[in-house]
Amino acid sequence: MPSLLTITDLSFTHIGRSQPTINPIHLTLQVGEIVLIAGATGSGKSTLLNCIAGISPIHTGGTLTGNIQYNHESILEWSVQQRSRILGIVLQNVETQLFTDQVTEELAFGLENLNLPPAQIGLLTNAALQEFGLESQRNWAITQLSAGQKQRLILACVLAMNQPLLLLDEPFAYLDRAGAELLLRLLKHRATQGQSILLVEHRLDLVKDVCDRVFQFEAGHLVEGGRALASVSVNRTGVESEEAIKHAPSGSHILQTQNVSWGGYPAFPDLEIGQGETVLLKGDNGCGKTTLLKLLCGLLKPSTGKIKLFGRNTRKQRVVHIAKTAGFVLQNPNHQLFGDSVRQEVLQPGVTTLAAEQMLEQLRLSDRAEQHPQSLSQGQKRRLALGAVLVRQPQLCLLDEITVGQDPQSLSLMLEVLRNFTQQGGTLILTSHDPQVADCLNARVIQIGSRG
Ligand SMILES: Nc1ncnc2c1ncn2[C@@H]1O[C@H](COP(=O)(O)OP(=O)(O)OP(=O)(O)O)[C@@H](O)[C@H]1O
Ligand SMILES: [Mg+2]
Repeated sequence: MPSLLTITDLSFTHIGRSQPTINPIHLTLQVGEIVLIAGATGSGKSTLLNCIAGISPIHTGGTLTGNIQYNHESILEWSVQQRSRILGIVLQNVETQLFTDQVTEELAFGLENLNLPPAQIGLLTNAALQEFGLESQRNWAITQLSAGQKQRLILACVLAMNQPLLLLDEPFAYLDRAGAELLLRLLKHRATQGQSILLVEHRLDLVKDVCDRVFQFEAGHLVEGGRALASVSVNRTGVESEEAIKHAPSGSHILQTQNVSWGGYPAFPDLEIGQGETVLLKGDNGCGKTTLLKLLCGLLKPSTGKIKLFGRNTRKQRVVHIAKTAGFVLQNPNHQLFGDSVRQEVLQPGVTTLAAEQMLEQLRLSDRAEQHPQSLSQGQKRRLALGAVLVRQPQLCLLDEITVGQDPQSLSLMLEVLRNFTQQGGTLILTSHDPQVADCLNARVIQIGSRG
């Protein structure tokens, strides 16, 4: 089969770093092939995709050596825009890739850049909305979309453009089960039609059936094959011993809700959550999980109904007051990291140096302590945002899909930290589309929205 993409001796060093993030690597991608790139958080997966798309070093700076060829022609001198003619990229952070204010406009935007006639743009837009289950959102503002719906929209935009090469950075991260199954089917189909796909994903069990070859980043090198597949399962040590906690006799409930509704969502189920419990809110993309978390911690006020947190109606309390006992880790860590360094992010007023260092150690971030939070990889940022909230020792912690994008080892660490939190009496309410998270945390699952 002809090789579409040929990467030779590619190495990349970020600005301000003494060591290269990517050591010289070689990779070829054939026409119609799907190749998986796995590897720990911070190992260089996104950096590689950025180098191919030209984002690095053109926009990020840094030093690139080696060569990247498309159809045997070097593309290193091509601009990002030139490269976008041959490749479509789905970035890891769903917020950074949306350019317009409205769903159909967003779809038309990319297609207009390909100079397609308006009638064809209309047809392609409708087909994409239908394919990704976004027809009822066609006139919505982008800001109304959930993270999963944003991810569906970005995928719809990129796949509609039909470039020969697709670079997908964790495209399954926020998708519900139906969305993930749809995307798997689509990728397989696109590959049989001749598109070539580089896919970054940690959950190898999810994608291994559609991938032709698997690579793993290890210490900057790209290693082909089996080790990646062997590391699928997450360490479940300690789960069984927590059986008792699942339905812990709660005595008094720390959180109770009654007939809560907000905006256009159907009323949320009534919740009664006891101290030390772990509760997982489950539901399809756009069913209102993030909205419910915001209501619970007072960031939104319910349109109807009542929320009692630690015995007090949240409607009558200020958000800053609630935040003293209830921590919230947001879905997008970029919205929550403001410090000048990783250490400063956790070393907040009232937190001892020892507690801060221990938290960094537990979350495998000690070696990053001096770095700027925004220079971390996406998975590292998620662990940091969690650490910055837990270090304040809240009694209740709300976590919005924070386990996405963690390699198996990092996910084990994160789950260990969360188990320690509940063992010490903390209460967890979290959302996640990953079934093993509920399982590993022995969580009580509560369905939001209509589907079971
Ligand atoms: N702008 C930057 N400046 C300095 N270092 C950076 C920058 N961006 C990324 N890095 C570093 O490069 C390394 C690789 O980052 P990259 O985002 O490629 O990892 P990744 O494998 O995609 O991780 P994840 O699974 O968490 O997305 C990390 O150690 C990160 O801290
Ligand atoms: Mg990445």
